[in-house]
Amino acid sequence: MEKRIGVLTSGGDAPGMNAAIRAVTRTAIYNDMQVVGICRGYEGLLEEDFVPLVVNSVGGILMSGGTRLRTARCEEFMREEGINAAVKILKRNDIQSLAVIGGDGSFRGANELAKRGVQVVGIPATIDNDMSGTDHTIGFDTACNTAVECIRKLRDTASSHDRMFIIEVMGRHAGFIALETGLACGAEYVVVPEIQFDLEIMKSRLERAKKRGKNHSLIIVAEGVMSASELAEKLKPDCPYEPRIVVLGHIQRGGAPTSFDTVLASTLGSAAVEAVVRGETGVMVGRINGKIVASPLETAWKQKHATDEKIFKLIDILSI
Ligand code: F6P
Repeated sequence: MEKRIGVLTSGGDAPGMNAAIRAVTRTAIYNDMQVVGICRGYEGLLEEDFVPLVVNSVGGILMSGGTRLRTARCEEFMREEGINAAVKILKRNDIQSLAVIGGDGSFRGANELAKRGVQVVGIPATIDNDMSGTDHTIGFDTACNTAVECIRKLRDTASSHDRMFIIEVMGRHAGFIALETGLACGAEYVVVPEIQFDLEIMKSRLERAKKRGKNHSLIIVAEGVMSASELAEKLKPDCPYEPRIVVLGHIQRGGAPTSFDTVLASTLGSAAVEAVVRGETGVMVGRINGKIVASPLETAWKQKHATDEKIFKLIDILSI
């Protein structure tokens, strides 16, 4: 009997998830497996919301954003009963292996399934880039490019009106998007959860910019630290520029994946199936220094993905 592999996307959608679904499906078929698409993540797994995937089912999705399998954040799957029910459902449907495309929350659930004998391989996909075991998560590059595109437009207005924009970007508990976009857009200061926020330093950088004749300014704040409006309140009393706030929000999650994310997703999706073929389980596949590596699923949340403090410093140096 052919082996059956299930594939699902879970947690927040991330550009490149479709490319990963396609790569899992086609690599599995190439290796003589049957593929079952599980809709709406763990929620759909518990409701047996399944769809058979053949080569053509994943045609035309490579370059599209979102996830064709849809996704969800599933409360029930956080509980023992939910996980045990999922194991039974997988057994009943002859699904021996599972490819989970998602972030660290999704991998916690995946790990519980692996502990109960399901063969599970994780594919890291979240715009936050907050997972160890890979240099980049699928979706991060696209989210940064989207944010940069928006911030460049804001910069036009900032320089035309002698204004400052405080831009709130996503990243829940992580400042990767904020740091990357801050450097790419020439921000004066970036507020991230990993580095102590210093209001006085921020003010001095704004003064410094004003003194050298810069007529506008950009500040990026990661949503996990505070909102753009809270930051504007803190700055207001002696802000050298007229502030405006913008919350980029879910704009950052949508859109066609960049070629970087499409290639990463295709590579990792395929690598996940190869790991299944080798008999590996309880692992996530990632790419570190250009090499595909498999690490225990727990790496994703037990080991913190280190923030590059050099970027923070560089933002200061280059806005001198
Ligand atoms: O984890 C990805 C992410 O986009 C975070 O950056 C953000 O805080 C969160 O999801 C938003 O989640 P939701 O779409 O459920 O509001």
